[in-house]
Amino acid sequence: MSIDGEGDLQGLKAIGAIVAATLRAMKAAVRPGITTAELDAVAAREFARHGAVSSPRRVYDFPGETCISVNDEVVHGVPGGRALRPGDIVKMDVTAEKDGYVADACVSAAVGETDERSRRLVACAERAFREAMKVARAGNRVNDIGRAVENEVLRCGFSVVRELCGHGVGRTIHEDPQVPNYYDPMAQRRLTKGMVITVEPIIVAGRGVVSTADDGWTVRTLDGSRAAHHEHTLVITDAAPILVTA
Ligand code: CO
Repeated sequence: MSIDGEGDLQGLKAIGAIVAATLRAMKAAVRPGITTAELDAVAAREFARHGAVSSPRRVYDFPGETCISVNDEVVHGVPGGRALRPGDIVKMDVTAEKDGYVADACVSAAVGETDERSRRLVACAERAFREAMKVARAGNRVNDIGRAVENEVLRCGFSVVRELCGHGVGRTIHEDPQVPNYYDPMAQRRLTKGMVITVEPIIVAGRGVVSTADDGWTVRTLDGSRAAHHEHTLVITDAAPILVTA
């Protein structure tokens, strides 16, 4: 969507704050032994408390409130009986809606102490996001974002997953434009004031080749390497973007 007036901005900020609160509650609950279904239940309670609804469940009939992906699971992990173990990295991806507005964000967290390479991977996803924020402004092109993300990820010695992109958001979970995490010469569309998009570096420690598991949802790396994901919903302006899920 593109923001059209103060009402839109307030509506988007309201659901953005709910998504942020949900991620804080989930992250605070991460510990060895907790199952991904129990983490998802934390999100369900936050949604209920704030009158919000899970977008992936409503729109795609996803079997969970949120997507929770562990280690080599990249995105769209289905919450279930898997218990988190020390050293795991868990990605919590929350998309929710209220009053016709939708916000989407994801954080990666280590379970207890993790290894040096996993820590660097999570830090790289966050840094790639921050690099993208420097170019996410009106007048630049969509592929300026991808170039910023990819440059940082390559500098770290990691890979982006080309199939998994940021996207327009705000009225429904996936809107135009796609926002690739690499320099796509075709992604020439200009960013315009009020445009609502996600920026979400989805990166892996090995090769960026993925496949979908038999459950029809979970996307994993083919080489078993770990993935990290950092995402916010933002509004493009003439200056720094407004992060509605921060
Ligand atoms: Co997203």
